[in-house]
Amino acid sequence: MKKPIIIDTDPGKDDAIALAMALYSEDIDIKLITTVAGNVSLKKVSYNALRLLKYLEREDIPIAMGACRPLINPYKDRFNEDASSIHGESGLGDFEFEEPEKEPLEINAIDAMREVILESEVKVTILALGPLTNLAILFKAFPEVKENIEEIIFMGGSINRGNLGVMTEFNIGTDPEAAKIVIDSGLKVTMVGLDIGNKARIFLKDLEELKDYNKSTRLTYSLFKDYKGMDKESAIKVYDSTAIAYLLKPDIFKLEYTYVDVELRGQYTLGCTIVDLDNRLEEKPNIYVCTDIDEDEFRKYFLDSLKNCI
Ligand code: BDR
Ligand code: CA
Repeated sequence: MKKPIIIDTDPGKDDAIALAMALYSEDIDIKLITTVAGNVSLKKVSYNALRLLKYLEREDIPIAMGACRPLINPYKDRFNEDASSIHGESGLGDFEFEEPEKEPLEINAIDAMREVILESEVKVTILALGPLTNLAILFKAFPEVKENIEEIIFMGGSINRGNLGVMTEFNIGTDPEAAKIVIDSGLKVTMVGLDIGNKARIFLKDLEELKDYNKSTRLTYSLFKDYKGMDKESAIKVYDSTAIAYLLKPDIFKLEYTYVDVELRGQYTLGCTIVDLDNRLEEKPNIYVCTDIDEDEFRKYFLDSLKNCI
């Protein structure tokens, strides 16, 4: 039986490719996609989600719009930036999509998640690819949903260094309070952080070779051909795809059950994830953290998954 899942996302170039991989996986049934302000504004990421589903021919999946700003501070206030320098003003570069026909649901993401979770006969897995604002609101407003959640897998945080601040990863740094609520939720939570994304490299030549294979490979090549974070070897970081890979192919990851906290104050470290692998704080483990990935296996899996899409 296919696993029922909800994807909470802020597309975003890497979100877009993670979505393509998820949409055509035979192991999961995407019940709902929810959007959250992150890479770009809520309006833009929601429009992007609609455009993606139209392009990828999966307009049967409902989209619900969630939080337009983090829990405590206004959007962009803390670090005074979104991620449009990486993802383009629209969030999806200049790829030309057709206009979507569908609209988001009339109910908001929190109510939509609640409905899907409570109505599901099988416990629902949540894959979070953006700031964790929607999930934090969901758990505070409707704690009863927790009983029917299998697990939360989020892309975000970092064991070592950051990409928003020196030590702070973008998704967690954008809404640190929300991340803390999710990490402390008592649910089975797995963090697939920046360190994993930095290791899971895809090369531009891989995408170039595959670009005419199908619509998804064409989209991937177009989104990443001028990727700003490319290193000397033209390696691309497809962060959000590592979280979907963890869900679908966990055997290529190393995992530790450990204590993680989020820095909520700090002159330089706001939003930094404290991953206490050596148990210096003498706290009980609270979440699973991916500590390593088989880079070659991931690359193969990533490219095969794209080939399996339309
Ligand atoms: C995360 O931040 C966003 O820019 C990406 O979409 C990804 O979810 C990486 O730090
Ligand atoms: Ca994202």
